[in-house]
Amino acid sequence: MPPAKQLRDLFMAILLVFVIAAAANLPVMVLSGAGNVRRSDFPDTFVFGAGSSAYQVEGAAFEDGRMPSIWDTFAHAGIYGGANADVSCDAYHKYKEDVKLMADMGLEGYRFSISWSRLIPNGRGSINPKGLQYYNNLINELLRHGIQPHITLCHSDIPQTLQDEYGGWMSRKIIDDFTAYADVCFKEFGDRVSYWTTLNEVNVFTIGGYDNGITPPNHCSPPFGLKSCSIGNSSTEPYIVAHNILLAHSSAVRLYRRKYKSTQHGFVGLNLFAYRPLPCTIETADINAVQRVYDFYVGWFANPLIFGDYPDVMKRNVGSRLPEFTREESMQVKGAIDFIALNHYQTIHVKDSSSSLESKIRDYTIDGAFELIYTEEDSPPDQFEYPVTQPGLGDILEYLKQAYGNIPIYIHENGQMTRRNATLNDTRRVEYLQAYIGNVLDAMRNGSNVKGYFVWSFLDCFELLGAYDSGFGLYYVDLDDKELTRYPKLSSHWYTNFLKGKGSKHSEILQIENKVPRSSQ
Ligand SMILES: *[C@@H]1O[C@H](CO)[C@@H](O)[C@H](O)[C@H]1NC(C)=O
Ligand SMILES: *[C@@H]1O[C@H](CO)[C@@H](O)[C@H](O)[C@H]1NC(C)=O
Ligand SMILES: *[C@@H]1O[C@H](CO)[C@@H](O)[C@H](O)[C@H]1NC(C)=O
Ligand SMILES: *[C@@H]1O[C@H](CO)[C@@H](O)[C@H](O)[C@H]1NC(C)=O
Repeated sequence: MPPAKQLRDLFMAILLVFVIAAAANLPVMVLSGAGNVRRSDFPDTFVFGAGSSAYQVEGAAFEDGRMPSIWDTFAHAGIYGGANADVSCDAYHKYKEDVKLMADMGLEGYRFSISWSRLIPNGRGSINPKGLQYYNNLINELLRHGIQPHITLCHSDIPQTLQDEYGGWMSRKIIDDFTAYADVCFKEFGDRVSYWTTLNEVNVFTIGGYDNGITPPNHCSPPFGLKSCSIGNSSTEPYIVAHNILLAHSSAVRLYRRKYKSTQHGFVGLNLFAYRPLPCTIETADINAVQRVYDFYVGWFANPLIFGDYPDVMKRNVGSRLPEFTREESMQVKGAIDFIALNHYQTIHVKDSSSSLESKIRDYTIDGAFELIYTEEDSPPDQFEYPVTQPGLGDILEYLKQAYGNIPIYIHENGQMTRRNATLNDTRRVEYLQAYIGNVLDAMRNGSNVKGYFVWSFLDCFELLGAYDSGFGLYYVDLDDKELTRYPKLSSHWYTNFLKGKGSKHSEILQIENKVPRSSQ
């Protein structure tokens, strides 16, 4: 529903006032100083950046030979009430302007993804020269400005042709196609790119895509998930898909090590989403359920990659529906990871639901025997802003340190959601970033092997769950303006000051910071 014109005019007037204020350094006074956390508290080799993904920002969905991905298909099926990312932020055409903004902010790294169906439109076979040119241009532009590219090969957007041809991740055929695609990326860009992530949020992609159907490719089966699923099997498909993802990821990592590592010296990781789980009560059953949340969300992928097999509790609860690794597969998967890339936003409470294991028809959620509950303290009052008290990133980092031998971690996504068009004065985002970055520092001081931190997101973009209703950006993008003008929010000024090491003055922000407990205990 388009907003009433008057309302929009009012909004734009307020926006303009703010932009003028920003230009006159007014709000910047409020945020001189990044609270107690400083860039110089982190090692020089640490990388601070911001992120995006191809489908979410590029636009140019049908231009220069790009073919649809499963995400285009999903959006065009009307799931988002008609919204799609056909144009979005038009980063395909505006990359130079964007890289300039990044450089002005002092970003040290930019995390983005490659659209598989832009580079290899049919999923396999010939390379699209225009796609190749675009990513070369973007990488070169970043490097010219001293910004490290951190590339994700596939951010939930496999080519629709592969979905149609053999069911995408449901088929082992994707292992060869994904490896060949990765080979093209390593070969074409690896002389300038050292940080690769194969796949984004594989746990969320698998659950959303194949258990409850709320993300592409929208598979699920009754009584689970959305009614709109026309195909799927929530009892079995998530496990098959995850298994194939692990094999494809490992195959790409092995290829890199065999063919490119000795000359390119890069690193390849996998991206996982994690909540910080807290027990609902102090009952033992709920406390044990917290461990199962870690096992089912993180261990599902991390255990095979680090120890060569699924967590015992998954084998027990899922039984014969969980694919088994052959000896050879287990050896291929084990050790095929240089770092874990972590996406984290909020805390959630966990309740034991072991009695559900008696049910005959089961899915991933039932197999986990836990219920995830957003309590008032986890959930924003207006469903848009995450609370900033008790940041839980440190807890997760501590868990990963202890469970996985202190493997290197890149925090790929962390950020505050707001209503997209609410205000440029996003003080709640500043508070959030400050609290969470402080939380990362505490974890590092206790030995966590964190190597980088990327704010989600650089721009307000098309969001997987909320399309254009919510925004996480350091920059607001005015979608009603043909130029898609980018406006800096308060948070971008704050991040700039933080990155440039400015600010030790006391300020309102400092007072806010002081109210935020930094300890995650
Ligand atoms: C802001 O976005 C919300 C949700 O999309 C919409 O309801 C509202 O009318 C918008 N407000 C303005 C001022 O554009
Ligand atoms: C899902 O697959 C299992 C195992 O093949 C089968 O027993 C079950 O009936 C399938 N469920 C649906 C909804 O197709
Ligand atoms: C921004 O918001 C904060 C807190 O809501 C308020 O104190 C401050 O005056 C606002 N700044 C501007 C420039 O509107
Ligand atoms: C700090 O690390 C030690 C050793 O790994 C661990 O025992 C302790 O619980 C950690 N402290 C916090 C606050 O996470």
